[in-house]
This record gives sequence, C-alpha cells and structure tokens, in this order.
Amino acid sequence: MNKKYRKALIAGNWKMNMLPSEAKGFVEALKAEMPKQKSCDVAICAPFVVMPALMKATGGSRIALGAQDVSAHDKGAYTGEVSIAQLKDIGTKYVIIGHSERRQYHGETDELVNAKSLKTLDAGITPIICVGESLDQRERGLTLPHIEYQVRAALTAMSEEQVRRCVIAYEPIWAIGTGKTATADQAEEVCEYIRGVIRKAFSARTARSTTILYGGSMNAGNAMELLGKADIDGGLIGGASLKPTDFAKIIAATAQESAHE
Ligand code: PGA
Repeated sequence: MNKKYRKALIAGNWKMNMLPSEAKGFVEALKAEMPKQKSCDVAICAPFVVMPALMKATGGSRIALGAQDVSAHDKGAYTGEVSIAQLKDIGTKYVIIGHSERRQYHGETDELVNAKSLKTLDAGITPIICVGESLDQRERGLTLPHIEYQVRAALTAMSEEQVRRCVIAYEPIWAIGTGKTATADQAEEVCEYIRGVIRKAFSARTARSTTILYGGSMNAGNAMELLGKADIDGGLIGGASLKPTDFAKIIAATAQESAHE
C-alpha cells in the first residue's frame, strides 16, 4: 500500500534509562549525527522526570517529546500518576500507551489502553498504541487473532478521524529487548494484517492513513530491511535509541527507504 498517505515516525523508547543530566549531551550527539534531510518524524519517549530536561535540550530541533505512559484520569487523588494536561503543558507530542511491559508488570488491560488513548487524542496528542503477541501465542498460531482483538479493543469508540491520528506499534513480546528481531516478512505480515483490521473496522481511507510501526530489537543493521516493507511506516526503538549513533542510523534508514520508493 502506498506510503505517501502517512507519516513515517522513528520513536525512541528510553524506558527506565537516562538521567535528566544526561539528556543534553545525548541530544547534542544525536543532532550532530542525524541526517539534515527530513524523511520522518522523530520522537524520544523519556521517563517523566527526564522530559523537562529533554524538552530544553531538543528546543528548536525536529526531535519531538514523548512520554511512556499517561493516567486515564483527568486530575485529583491518583498518587504517582501523571495526567495528559500535565504532559501537554510541557510540550509533549506523543505518548506510548499499552507497552507490553506496562501490560505485563502493571496489569494494564485493553480497556485501560483504550481509555488512555481517548484521553490522549482529546488533548491533541498522538498515542503510540502498542500491541503484540507472546512467544507462546505465536507458537500456538494465535498471533493474528490476538492482534486483531488488541487493535479493535484499543480503537473502541473512536471516530475515523481519531484513528487516523493514532500510531499503532506492532511489538512482538518475544522480540523486545531480546536481540531476537522478527524477520522483515514476519513483521510485515502482522503490520499488513493490522491495516486490514482497521480497513474492516473503519474504512480503506483510514487504513491507508494510519501510521504503523514495528518495534522489537530494531537496530542500525536491520532497520532498512524492516522499513522497506510496504506496511511498516517506522519504528519504536528501545535499546538502540540509547545510543545516539545507532538511533541516528535508524533515522537515516528512513531517508534511504523513501529514496527507493
Ligand atoms: P527494544 O525495545 O528495541 O529494546 O527491543 C522496543 C520496545 O520495547 O519498544
């Protein structure tokens, strides 16, 4: 399907790494190595306490600020949570929602992922909604039904216009942080399937306009092949986003990919 209808995005997911005092040095190194030509949007999703320092360091650059989670509540007595208004106030453009680590370690359900995504859209911020199967589900042949269930649940009660503002990240759990990447064909099979689910649930126009990422051990060496696939519009990068040189190479891979179109 033609990629010209949607935006490419390379988003770093720093997870629980990086100190506020390290953000400036990282951004300077990344800016020095990043291609000047703008072939994709670039974001870094940082821990909450690192975000202000990152915002300051990225000021005026093309690197957008992202968070790794958000509360489903607006405000009030929710100790430890951070609201979408608070994130918006510091200039957040993206929020990762339903990462498998949050689903696994914090018991986040599909209903909560949907609620958080709707809150994020209401604030005019882009949710990066994560879906993905476990190794056990893959081996039992349950990958596609599981992904379909997660995608439909996450997009419940959304208008087509809202769905088009979402980014979906396909992240097979067995490939996250393991060094074991899905092959480009495996990743494309699921990303194409996700687009098909959106087509069935919404429309062809919405399906072709929704950005779909792959995540799971994407690195400087394999990015180009993955990004070359028709339905993979970018990447959600964990480990490799902590190294400016590697992250810059992945960003550069989108330029080479678009040059080949
Ligand atoms: P990884 O993480 O690139 O380190 O596998 C990706 C993610 O969890 O978003």
